[in-house]
Amino acid sequence: MLMRHLLLVFLLLHGAAAAAGNQPAGKPAAAKPRAAKWKTLSGNAPLVIARGGYSGIFPESSQFAYQFALATSLKETVLLCDLQLTKDGAGICRSDLKLDNSTTISTAFPKRGTTYSVNGQSVHGWFSVDFTSDELLGNVTTIQNIFSRPSIFDGNLPLSMVQEISRFHPSQFWLNVQYDMFYKEHKLDPAKFILTASENVVFDYISSPEIGFLKSLNGKLGKAKTKLIFRFLAADAVEPSTNQTYSLILKNLATIKSFASGILVPKSYVWPANKDKYLEPSTTLVTDAHNLGLEVYAFNFANDQPASYNYSFDPTAEYLQFIDNPNFSVDGVFTDFPSTASAAIACLAHNKDNAAAQKKRPLIITRNGASGVFAGCTDLAYQQAVKDGADIIDCSVQMSKDGVAFCLDSADLMGDTTAMDSFMSRSALVPEIQKNNGIFSFDLTWSEIESLKPVLANPLSSANLVRNPAAKNMGKLMTLATFLDFAKNSTVSGILINIEHAPYLASKKGLDIVTAVSSALINASYDKQITQKVLIQSDDTSVLSMFKNNSSYKRVFKVEETISDSPKPAVDEIKQFADAVNIAKTSLIASSNSFLTSFTPVTDKMHAANLSVYVSGLRNEFVSIPFDCFSDPMVEIATYAAGLAVDGIVTEFPATARAYFRSPCSDVEANLPFSILPVEPGSLLKEAQPELLPPTQAPAPALDAADIVDPPLPPVVKVSETAPGAAPESSPTHPSGQPANAANAALLLLMMVLSFIYLSYQ
Ligand SMILES: *[C@@H]1O[C@H](CO)[C@@H](O)[C@H](O)[C@H]1NC(C)=O
Ligand SMILES: *[C@@H]1O[C@H](CO)[C@@H](O)[C@H](O)[C@H]1NC(C)=O
Ligand SMILES: *[C@@H]1O[C@H](CO)[C@@H](O)[C@H](O)[C@H]1NC(C)=O
Ligand SMILES: *[C@@H]1O[C@H](CO)[C@@H](O)[C@H](O)[C@H]1NC(C)=O
Ligand SMILES: *[C@@H]1O[C@H](CO)[C@@H](O)[C@H](O)[C@H]1NC(C)=O
Ligand SMILES: *[C@@H]1O[C@H](CO)[C@@H](O)[C@H](O)[C@H]1NC(C)=O
Ligand SMILES: *[C@@H]1O[C@H](CO)[C@@H](O)[C@H](O)[C@H]1NC(C)=O
Ligand SMILES: *[C@@H]1O[C@H](CO)[C@@H](O)[C@H](O)[C@H]1NC(C)=O
Ligand SMILES: *[C@@H]1O[C@H](CO)[C@@H](O)[C@H](O)[C@H]1NC(C)=O
Ligand SMILES: *[C@@H]1O[C@H](CO)[C@@H](O)[C@H](O)[C@H]1NC(C)=O
Repeated sequence: MLMRHLLLVFLLLHGAAAAAGNQPAGKPAAAKPRAAKWKTLSGNAPLVIARGGYSGIFPESSQFAYQFALATSLKETVLLCDLQLTKDGAGICRSDLKLDNSTTISTAFPKRGTTYSVNGQSVHGWFSVDFTSDELLGNVTTIQNIFSRPSIFDGNLPLSMVQEISRFHPSQFWLNVQYDMFYKEHKLDPAKFILTASENVVFDYISSPEIGFLKSLNGKLGKAKTKLIFRFLAADAVEPSTNQTYSLILKNLATIKSFASGILVPKSYVWPANKDKYLEPSTTLVTDAHNLGLEVYAFNFANDQPASYNYSFDPTAEYLQFIDNPNFSVDGVFTDFPSTASAAIACLAHNKDNAAAQKKRPLIITRNGASGVFAGCTDLAYQQAVKDGADIIDCSVQMSKDGVAFCLDSADLMGDTTAMDSFMSRSALVPEIQKNNGIFSFDLTWSEIESLKPVLANPLSSANLVRNPAAKNMGKLMTLATFLDFAKNSTVSGILINIEHAPYLASKKGLDIVTAVSSALINASYDKQITQKVLIQSDDTSVLSMFKNNSSYKRVFKVEETISDSPKPAVDEIKQFADAVNIAKTSLIASSNSFLTSFTPVTDKMHAANLSVYVSGLRNEFVSIPFDCFSDPMVEIATYAAGLAVDGIVTEFPATARAYFRSPCSDVEANLPFSILPVEPGSLLKEAQPELLPPTQAPAPALDAADIVDPPLPPVVKVSETAPGAAPESSPTHPSGQPANAANAALLLLMMVLSFIYLSYQ
């Protein structure tokens, strides 16, 4: 029943991939013409080996996991089964010797846990050697054993028997035998199991970390048919049949050739990272092994386990490091996310200089430059953005007390600079801008601001994902004028200038941000030049209307709130002021519990009014990506670009967007054998166990036409005319950080009322 559903989903989700699997034999695959470029031992494209199937989503080694791997990945994808033997000698697929780690066994048989010695270590758990295959298949189901992955498929997917895998018709099958000596001690013989099973099952690869086991198989299986692969474990671990450490065995690579045709190594054996998680130069292992005629496979690849800061949370960058570098390619990768590895091989490798004419595609618009890599709005972030291939670089303009316009994400300097170290005494509460105290740019002079160090923002630090810590305080902030000079001299096709807080700055601080921007643009000849686009963005319609007569500028209305719909009256209002909208990704595709549920009508309605739609909030960090996008930032980009046809992608990681759009796989009409396909919202969620789903959140409200139009901008006051508390130099704050004077107390009260209304609304 469930299975039939899922197969249906496969067709919906991955129609193109499924169709490609059926393509007539003999028709060349897309990767063929580039085959000569691969620096693998055979010269063929590297293999994707799906560890326990698509274990990044489904419980590992369950039937769904295996089927899903084949449906979403290159058709050459190899299915990997980790062999465990039952009391009655049957073979089941589980990654771990202890079944309690990834099945319901400890609930099904609560009293049958035990402690065994495993290669000299005492291990407590539930072991397959104590159960018959009937007991396991009839009473135990699989569960997700990695906490960051969805648990909603738990409990209804049975264990897979080794023989069952061939039913899915993988192009190749890989059996890993992690514990031969343990099973022998329990009177079970993996080699015997394999010899018997191989009458019906073709094992293309058999790997093991035990030399004795591999030697015992030598000559017993047709060598041409089955490749034996020696698996290395941690360098200081001891190989149980010889009592040598793996690091010692590595020094005698040539001896491995006598009993194996390849090696399987932790990926750090090839690209080691230092203790700070930065990559060091590669070892010569792959080249050395290839020179001996040994294939090299690397394991431990997973989209949700970032290995090194060098990859900027883009999992495809890591695969490319292993398969597309000037010196070597590994022969295959073991992965929990085989679709991403497939994309790296079929879509992205050997593509860096692809300048082929691109079909119409969304603009790549940065958010604070390449702020996923360097502190936002610094010279480094902008240089990186240009290098990474952004189309439009952005400057959110802030004003200093002395009227210098400069680029920074927020008027509050506390988050993005080291202002707290030097200017804590200048902190103030400005309810018009934010609920919390801040150190605001309009209270500091430009020379004071320039003296600060930038701070690399970490929006996902709560998930322990920190961006490029080595560059935490690197770079320099730029004035708007410097930014414009830089942009004009660069290869970008345009700039986006974001303007916020104009009414407050004019009425309370005597700062005219609109004029500052327009005169800087004119001074830099941006009002005349036609080679680069100028996008003026604001959440304030009165700001946008100031730029109405300047036909060389396009205007972008920033929709601040999350919405579920945009009725025509609201869209018509926006159309009065803007050519495009910048809108959060969650307003375009609704989601629930980190699964996409449906496309909202917002994109279509904006498009119907000829408003371009720029989607913001796309990030590389896997925690920000819905499960159905496979923790893969390119799948999410594909879903907005190809699935919704948005006109711009606003991103902190322009390199990832650029790599996707440079790839032939970004053209969904290209009819390639493998492609990076957009997700069909809702299709994966249908397979979940309803009782395991937390209640869905209430939908976001629709955009309200009455909220669009802002009052005209107030006149720019002279600072001396402003309320005493707001005068920059004399803003005394109470020790508790609260304003001391009556005017600010009134504001505070107003703010409390507003936040009360806000909370009640929630
Ligand atoms: C386990 O399942 C088998 C076959 O379905 C059944 O005969 C047996 O009673 C079950 N055992 C337990 C302990 O539930
Ligand atoms: C299962 O084992 C893995 C690897 O040792 C570990 O990371 C994970 O937390 C374990 N899961 C459970 C549910 O115990
Ligand atoms: C390895 O060490 C264990 C105990 O330390 C010993 O029993 C075994 O015989 C040794 N095996 C070899 C091949 O040296
Ligand atoms: C990784 O990043 C660090 C810091 O930017 C750099 O020094 C190093 O060369 C990079 N490693 C590789 C292999 O690119
Ligand atoms: C390739 O090998 C050469 C020589 O060993 C080395 O200098 C270079 O850094 C290597 N390149 C990469 C990308 O590893
Ligand atoms: C403009 O770019 C060129 C080459 O990229 C560089 O040499 C030059 O210094 C730049 N000029 C300015 C004013 O930034
Ligand atoms: C629009 O263009 C005109 C003519 O070039 C210029 O005088 C005016 O300041 C511009 N307005 C803005 C807001 O840039
Ligand atoms: C005007 O442009 C010139 C040259 O591009 C630049 O040096 C100067 O700083 C700019 N002035 C302002 C006020 O932006
Ligand atoms: C735009 O141009 C029209 C017609 O010339 C004029 O009436 C209007 O005041 C201008 N608006 C702005 C904001 O400059
Ligand atoms: C949108 O633009 C197209 C072509 O430029 C035009 O035919 C159509 O009438 C426009 N629609 C609206 C609602 O402005």
